[in-house]
Formats: sequence, C-alpha cells, structure tokens
Amino acid sequence: MPSVSVRNLTVAYNKGRTLALDNLNLDIRDGEFCVFLGPSGCGKTTALLCIAGLLVPTSGSIKIGDQVVISDDKKTFVRPQERNIAMVFQEYALYPSMTVRGNMAFALENKKYPREEIDRKVNSIANMLGIEQLLDRKPAQLSGGQRQRVALGRALVRDPSLFLLDEPLGNLDAKLREQVRFELKRIQRQLGVTTIYVTHDQTEAMTLADRIVLMKDGKVMQQGSPKDLYNRPINTFVAGFVGTPKINFLECGVTAKENRPYFNFGRSSLPGSPSLKAKLSGKACVIGIRPSDFALADMSDPEAIKGTVELIEPMGDEILVHFMVENHLLVGKFDAADEDRVCERVAVKVDPEKLHVFDGKTGDRIA
Ligand SMILES: Nc1ncnc2c1ncn2[C@@H]1O[C@H](COP(=O)(O)OP(=O)(O)OP(=O)(O)O)[C@@H](O)[C@H]1O
Ligand SMILES: [Mg+2]
Repeated sequence: MPSVSVRNLTVAYNKGRTLALDNLNLDIRDGEFCVFLGPSGCGKTTALLCIAGLLVPTSGSIKIGDQVVISDDKKTFVRPQERNIAMVFQEYALYPSMTVRGNMAFALENKKYPREEIDRKVNSIANMLGIEQLLDRKPAQLSGGQRQRVALGRALVRDPSLFLLDEPLGNLDAKLREQVRFELKRIQRQLGVTTIYVTHDQTEAMTLADRIVLMKDGKVMQQGSPKDLYNRPINTFVAGFVGTPKINFLECGVTAKENRPYFNFGRSSLPGSPSLKAKLSGKACVIGIRPSDFALADMSDPEAIKGTVELIEPMGDEILVHFMVENHLLVGKFDAADEDRVCERVAVKVDPEKLHVFDGKTGDRIA
C-alpha cells in the first residue's frame, strides 16, 4: 500500500483572496490510518479532493507511492480513475434501485471480475461490517447506520490502495458511531490499506489515528501521533483542540526563585520546571494544564493553589471538579474515590514537568 506525500499544496479561490489550502505539507506512511482534523472550513475536504484528483490545486505537488499524481508544473496529472482510490463522502449515495449486494458488487462488475470472485469479496467485506444479513435488501429498507456501512463496504470491496473517508460516520448516533469506528479500524488493520479519514471530532481522531494532521485556515498546525499532539502540543491552538475535557489555560507572569521559575496569576503561583528557568525570564506566558494533571493536595500545603468549588460532575469512576481560582474557572479530573476530599474549597498541585508552557504573545510552545 502506498505512502502519500503532499508538497506546498495551495488552493486559492476568489482571485487568491480565499486560500482554502495554504502551502500544505504532509507525509503519510504506507498502511497508516491518518486523520485530518480541524474546525469547519479549515480545508480538510479540499485536501482530500486534491489527493483523489477531483480538484486541481492552484499549485503544489502530490505523490502517491512512487507515482507523482500531480506535479508542480501540472504537466503530470493522473486522472482520478487511474489512482486506485476509493472515496466515501459524507453524503454517501447508494443506488436506490439496487440491493445491498448489487451496490457492493457494482464497481467489480464494471471491471469484469469473475462472478465467484465478486461474491467472495462482497460476502467477506459484508461479514466484516456485520451487514451480511442485509445483502438482499434495498437501501430504503435500511437504517442510516446500516446504509453508511454499505457505503463503506462498497468502497472496501474495490481493494483500493488508498481509502479516503470524509466524515463517513456523521449520520450515526453516538453508540453506533463508536461501533462502526471500531469495525473500521479493525478492517483497516486487517487489510493494511493506507487510509485518510476526515473529522472535526477530536475524540474520533484520538481513538482512530496512527497519525493526526491538525489543520487550521488551510495550514497544518501539527502532525504526529495522537500522543505527540496530546503530550507536546506545539501551540495553544493544538493544546486547546486536542483533549477532553479541554486543557485549562492561565495567563501568567514569571518570576525566578532559587533555581526554578514560578508562574504567577493574581496572588497564586505554581512552580515550573528548573529546566525552563533560563528561557522564561521576564516573559509573559500562557500555561496549559490538562484536567487529569491536577492532583489533590492538603489545604495546609503552601505550594498548592486553592479554589472555590463551583460544580462537581460525576462520570462513573471519575469526577470532574470545576473550581474558581483568582477569577479563572478551572476543571480538574479526579478519582471518584477521592470525592470526600473535595468540599467547598479544594487545594491542587501540578507536577512542574506536566505544565505546558506557551509564549504569551505568539502562543508557541516554549521548551
Ligand atoms: N468552490 C469554492 N469557492 C470558494 N471558496 C470555497 C470553495 N470551496 C471551498 N471553499 C472555501 O475553502 C475553505 C475550505 O473548505 P473545505 O470544504 O475544505 O473545509 P472543511 O475543512 O472540509 O470544512 P467542514 O468541516 O465544514 O466540511 C472554506 O473556507 C470554504 O468556504
Ligand atoms: Mg468538509
């Protein structure tokens, strides 16, 4: 299965006034499950259409495996049907007059595959997707979730070398979404087909992806594994987009005491990592704290920050505690067994190594 590399891809509309893609660069490895993630309008669909060959970019080049499918000078352009790509759009359209089997077999019949091979493929993919008992029904006799699985199956039987999915689970309820997501990931692993999956849902991206390409305004903000983006976000946008509940941000001044920096907001202060001291002197910073990185402390602990509890949300084995410190509403995630330690007031600490420190002006990560 091929890798995909995209170089300086730009798509301009309105005589260059709208840049749907602005110098996009990315690399997807052979067999990877890659997720394009980002807010509405950031260019996810546009990038997918360029890779599929359904949209010719203003400039830039794309390589699929060893083959250049569009070159910078546009002298090379491989037509969509020659790219061996299967794409599933959010607005999947099944042929209403055909059965599920007919829908799934259609592309293979067009390619004049032998009957037995078509049946074998359709049955095997239908089994994987759990729709084998629906093969003789028409689309109108299916639920939305079943239809969406048929649309996926129709793309999968074609043995594509690249699988492009644009928000393919958008019409499913939360439970079915989770189920189909799991099936999709399992099938992708089994077939080893390089896959690009578009979503604006960060939970979906975190659970599915080997690699996330996080986009904003037609640009790549950061690409890497879900862990990379979660643990080392390169700016406040990435930190705020990835992770749920959302990371807490605090604008701070910095002072140095002994060998370490202290982040000050109002009359409260948090110790930072000694390794950062030299980089921070006199700077205004934004620090990011993941809700799960707060640890409960004793009210008598002088190093702990203290807040007023506004709301406790039970989440089964965990609790979310919303608390106010110096006019900042923060959220912490704790073990439900520790609920007794949270009263009207709460004291918390953060491991200095777990603080995310960003430049107060640019929002870029410092460290
Ligand atoms: N034909 C067009 N003419 C002008 N602008 C366009 C055109 N197609 C897309 N755009 C603009 O390009 C930008 C990127 O659009 P795109 O459809 O790629 O976003 P997206 O990330 O897929 O968003 P969504 O999550 O809402 O589907 C948007 O600002 C959009 O308005
Ligand atoms: Mg889109």
